[in-house]
Amino acid sequence: MTPNELPAGSAAFPAAVIPRLPAESTPTVQFQDVCLSFGEVHALDHVSFSMNPGETRVVLGAAGSGKTMLLKTAVGLVMPNSGHIRLFGEEVTGRKEAQLFDLRARVGILFQEGGLFDSLIIAENVAYPLLNQHAIEQSHAPSEAEVKQRVREALRFVELEHTLDKFPSELSGGMRRRVGIARAVVTAPALVLYDSPTAGLDPITANTIIALILKERDLRNTATIMVTHRYQDGHLMANFRYNPSSGEIEPAASSQKTTRFLVMREGRVIFEGSQPELLASTDPYVQKFARPGSA
Ligand SMILES: Nc1ncnc2c1ncn2[C@@H]1O[C@H](COP(=O)(O)OP(=O)(O)OP(=O)(O)O)[C@@H](O)[C@H]1O
Ligand SMILES: [Mg+2]
Repeated sequence: MTPNELPAGSAAFPAAVIPRLPAESTPTVQFQDVCLSFGEVHALDHVSFSMNPGETRVVLGAAGSGKTMLLKTAVGLVMPNSGHIRLFGEEVTGRKEAQLFDLRARVGILFQEGGLFDSLIIAENVAYPLLNQHAIEQSHAPSEAEVKQRVREALRFVELEHTLDKFPSELSGGMRRRVGIARAVVTAPALVLYDSPTAGLDPITANTIIALILKERDLRNTATIMVTHRYQDGHLMANFRYNPSSGEIEPAASSQKTTRFLVMREGRVIFEGSQPELLASTDPYVQKFARPGSA
């Protein structure tokens, strides 16, 4: 724990002298009137939203509506034409590539295509962001043993420790998705972006993937943005939690106010609200994504 994280009134800092803690008041992600065009196509059209540490956003929308671009601009992999994006309170827009690395090192990403390197074994794939992160923070480069340990832990987290020496091509689609999650969380990031983590999976495997995402979120209070086509994924994120004592997913005692839904259409966020608000929407486009069993 750093002095900044000390609770108000703790012995070391009497309440009267504690400054306001920026970590608690600074949004993890902030989009302000963000526009991104490819020729005539408005991939992002005046997008604004904000989320705080530990919160969840579920992003729904038709193919081509801008969901992937929302995630890619969030970490500066694609720069918008206008507007402002801040991560952890720091400006992403206009930042030089070299200065983006330190911000990206605090974010885990599961890419839509999975993004595993076919020529690397699973252990090397999972180690990749860890080695990258420490190349940036050269001050504490990890030993080889430490990297191995962290990779093992991340793979154990997704119950795939036995695949360390395999190539991605030797794993099923669901297993590759789990390796992708291990790689996204190996650095213990404060924010994880999941792009369509359940796409193309059978319902049982899809639920296993969401259970892992819940486990990551609830064990470490990770801020989470999840793009999905499945209403069920959002429903689970909003109403379930990981119970560390039982190791199981269980219904959350109260409906999770920290999970909000965004629905995108042709680059615009046409809906933002809680699950009950999503279900109550009378917009036919929004309704398409608000039904159990919807695409
Ligand atoms: N590099 C690019 N060049 C031109 N157009 C692009 C590029 N990347 C994205 N687009 C366009 O931007 C729009 C938004 O794309 P995006 O990938 O964000 O959609 P999506 O909502 O993620 O779709 P899907 O559900 O199919 O993954 C689409 O019209 C897409 O064709
Ligand atoms: Mg996409």
